[in-house]
Amino acid sequence: MRRKLAAGNWKMNGSRAALAEVGALVTTHPQPGCDVLLCPPATHIAWMAEALAGTPVRVGGQDCHQNASGAHTGDIAAPMLADAGASHVILGHSERRADHGETDALVRAKAEAAAAAGLIPVICLGETLQQRDAGETLSVIGAQLAGSLPASADPRTIIAYEPVWAIGTGRTPTLPQIAEVHAFLRAELRRRFGTAAEQMRLLYGGSVKPDNAAQIFAVPDVDGALVGGASLKAADFGAIITALEGTV
Ligand code: 13P
Repeated sequence: MRRKLAAGNWKMNGSRAALAEVGALVTTHPQPGCDVLLCPPATHIAWMAEALAGTPVRVGGQDCHQNASGAHTGDIAAPMLADAGASHVILGHSERRADHGETDALVRAKAEAAAAAGLIPVICLGETLQQRDAGETLSVIGAQLAGSLPASADPRTIIAYEPVWAIGTGRTPTLPQIAEVHAFLRAELRRRFGTAAEQMRLLYGGSVKPDNAAQIFAVPDVDGALVGGASLKAADFGAIITALEGTV
C-alpha cells in the first residue's frame, strides 16, 4: 500500500519566526497517520530540520543543481540539501520551469543528482490553461513525465500533478479531471516500471485547501497533496493532514 503524503511547498515565503507554525503543527499532529513533508526556502532547511528532529515530519528543498558541486554561483547542490537535513527535493515546479526556463531534460538531470545524493525527488508536471483548452493535457503531461523522470527512478520517487492554472488561483480542476490525469500517470508508470509503479506516489497540487482536500483525496490514485499557500499556516495544513488521515 502507498502511504499517503501531505507535502507543503512554502515557495519564497516564511521566516525564522515561522518556526512557531511548525511547532504548532507538530503539537496538533504529533503522530500523523500519513507522511508529512515541509519544503521551506533553502535558507530555512537547517533550522527547520533541527526544529523537527525527533518528529515524523520530513524537510525538503524546492530545487537543486544538476551537479554535485562546482562553480555555479547562487545555486545549491543536492548533497548540500541532504547535509542541511533535507530528505526530499521538489524539482521541475512550474514556477521554476517558467521563471528559470527549466526544461524536462534539466529536471531529469536534477532528479538524477538528487537521487545520487540520497534525496527523494518530487517531480512536478502540469498543463497550462491554454493547453487544457486545446485538449492537450494528457499529451503535455505524458511528454513532461517521459522527459523529466529518469529511467533509473526508484519507486520512492514522487510525482506531483499541478495544473499551472490551478496554482495560487483558488481554481481547481473537477474531480473527474484530476482522476483522468492521475489514472493516466499511473498507467504510464506501469508501462515504464511494471509493478514498481504501484508503490509510486502521485500527489495533486493547486489550490488545495481545508475545504476541498477531503473530496480531492477521495479521487482514485491521488496519494496526497503538494500544498502551497495553505501549508504556511499550521491550522490550514493541519486540517489538510487530518483530511488525508481520514482516507487512510
Ligand atoms: P497553491 O496551493 O498555493 O495553489 O500552490 C500549489 C503549488 O504550487 C504547490 O507546489
